[in-house]
Amino acid sequence: ISSENQQILSAHEWLTKLFHHLIRFTKDGKAGYQYLQERGITDETIDTFQLGFAPNTKNFTATFLEKKGFHQQMLVKFGLLSRSSEDGSISDRFRGRVIFPIRNHLGKTIAFGARALQGGEPKYLNSPETELFQKGKILYNFDLAKKHIRKSNEVVLFEGYFDVISAYQSGVQNAVATMGTALTEIQAKLLKRYVDTVIICYDGDKAGIEATYRAAQLLEQVGCLVKIASIKDGLDPDSFIKEYGGDAFKREVLEASQTFMSFYMQYKKKDFNLSLEGDRIQYVTEILQELAKIESPVEREFYIKELSNEYNITVESLQHEINQYRQKTG
Ligand code: CTP
Ligand code: MN
Ligand code: MN
Ligand code: MN
Ligand code: MN
Repeated sequence: ISSENQQILSAHEWLTKLFHHLIRFTKDGKAGYQYLQERGITDETIDTFQLGFAPNTKNFTATFLEKKGFHQQMLVKFGLLSRSSEDGSISDRFRGRVIFPIRNHLGKTIAFGARALQGGEPKYLNSPETELFQKGKILYNFDLAKKHIRKSNEVVLFEGYFDVISAYQSGVQNAVATMGTALTEIQAKLLKRYVDTVIICYDGDKAGIEATYRAAQLLEQVGCLVKIASIKDGLDPDSFIKEYGGDAFKREVLEASQTFMSFYMQYKKKDFNLSLEGDRIQYVTEILQELAKIESPVEREFYIKELSNEYNITVESLQHEINQYRQKTG
């Protein structure tokens, strides 16, 4: 197994270099290069992230790796090649796609994310989950971000490859991504080992907002201080940066990040029709239950005052109810 591990890491390294070379310097990679240019990605960034292009041919990768002497069976198992279910023939798995090498925390490529050019399906094709690559156990770009995370004692958590890359290109280098919306406990604990503060900056669509709530709870459970950076108009961080620029992203999104509690007070409204009295009471009750978990009396009072103003309830009643919840939960 350990020699198989060596082999497969070596195959990933060769392919990373090959795809990167193609996109930077050859006609075969031109479609990918143009795609990245249109998305505002610079040559320097392409180099930093070792981005590449897999040509749209049947046997390009297969021939290359075969010449290097790698075992086909292994390459199929780790999803670098695919075997036809009809005639068993071997061919390239990544075709006509921009390649994002997914590096482990030591900087070695252990998988690829591969994006279709305009409109192709599926949008992203990733390496399969194997003992080498489990999406839920690593964070995209952790290896490069690590020293910036340590220095700032903060990390910005994104959903996707392009979010990390655009942010990095705008000077936000303490950036990692979950490669999708679901943060796992393993990833949360990994972050906790390196930082106190996690700024969640997921997409501004419904899926992103739901996932923000779940990620925030998980991160608080493992002891992180959570901030929420929301993106308006259903944009995602990459498209926000493209539209408004990196400085606006830093000022209007990252520096304007909210506490979990303010996010939660906003988020919870979706479950209620606040023009109805019964719903308003229920809403306030749920918020108070969450507020009761906050240890700092000053912080609690801050939100109590906000609720008191917004719903015209006295601070005393709100305080009284919170004290009851606090006694119950000890
Ligand atoms: N993802 C994936 N497979 C998919 C869709 C998404 O692995 N079929 C992962 C990718 O890591 C992607 C992230 O989830 O970067 C976030 O998904 P999404 O917001 O849909 O994609 P974007 O990163 O915004 O991609 P793009 O900007 O290229 O549309
Ligand atoms: Mn290079
Ligand atoms: Mn998304
Ligand atoms: Mn997105
Ligand atoms: Mn995007």
